[in-house]
Amino acid sequence: MNKNTRRVLVTAASKGLGFAIANRMAKDGAQVVICGRNQLELDKSVAKLLGNARCEVAHGIVADLSRRSDVDNLFDRTLNLLGGVDCLVVNSGHAPYGTIDTLSDDDWGESYEMLLLSAVRLSRAAAKVMKASDRGGDIVYVTSAGIHEATDHRVASNVMRAGIAVVAKHLADILSESGVRVNVVAPGYFDTGRVRKRIEDLMVDEGLNRQAATARIATANPLGRIGAANELAELIAFIVGDRARYLNGTTITMDGGSSRLVT
Ligand SMILES: NC(=O)c1ccc[n+]([C@@H]2O[C@H](COP(=O)([O-])OP(=O)(O)OC[C@H]3O[C@@H](n4cnc5c(N)ncnc54)[C@H](OP(=O)(O)O)[C@@H]3O)[C@@H](O)[C@H]2O)c1
Repeated sequence: MNKNTRRVLVTAASKGLGFAIANRMAKDGAQVVICGRNQLELDKSVAKLLGNARCEVAHGIVADLSRRSDVDNLFDRTLNLLGGVDCLVVNSGHAPYGTIDTLSDDDWGESYEMLLLSAVRLSRAAAKVMKASDRGGDIVYVTSAGIHEATDHRVASNVMRAGIAVVAKHLADILSESGVRVNVVAPGYFDTGRVRKRIEDLMVDEGLNRQAATARIATANPLGRIGAANELAELIAFIVGDRARYLNGTTITMDGGSSRLVT
């Protein structure tokens, strides 16, 4: 193994955005560990990662990000498998939908553990390893464009993701002298299983055909289309790459222009 080969952990990555990110890193020849809750899905995804000509090492570890023991085990096993971590991409599952009236304390607790506390736990572990390394590192959080504009029924997700942006800012301050950069990407709508399910729900709930249901989501941004997961993966490849060495402590929104935020 080339000693400069990047060692990457991407969480919640058997499918969707997480998989696209892991696959983009694998194309560059990175050694990759991904996690999810289903071994079979992970096995299929690892086989795809290893199908990239330059990817020699890829592993899937079963871990539920809402469980502390799983998160600890995930990080420890990643260290054992790769011998270190140079790049941590914290992606996650989905918080329960609901409003202040409908979300229970358990829903809030689940959202906190799975989205925010898992990010803190992984970051703490990665920061320790990256600080001790002479290679520095990168930490990137995948959050949501909802951190800028609170959206109906996503209050729990928006709260936790706004919290992650604060954690990222804090870490960017204290890790920069160790050569570790910390950034956030905030996606709008991207074509994943989750969004395809939302389109199907719209078809059922509102009697729309697929084209109309897709347009309902896509026209929420000026480009008039849903993003491809690979497009977000390209952004992250740029963020963690050498051409972005001055990018630190920031949140980049990729939503086709739907956010009304000016700065
Ligand atoms: N797609 C979008 O348009 C969009 C927009 C904004 C934000 N996001 C956010 O980006 C993240 C990924 O979204 P996606 O659309 O790619 O979702 P997705 O296609 O449903 O994929 C989610 C991935 O996360 C894994 N996962 C789910 N819950 C997990 C848990 N508790 N512990 C570990 N792994 C878990 C899933 O595998 P298992 O189910 O097998 O565990 C799967 O690999 C989510 O947090 C989502 O809210 C997505």
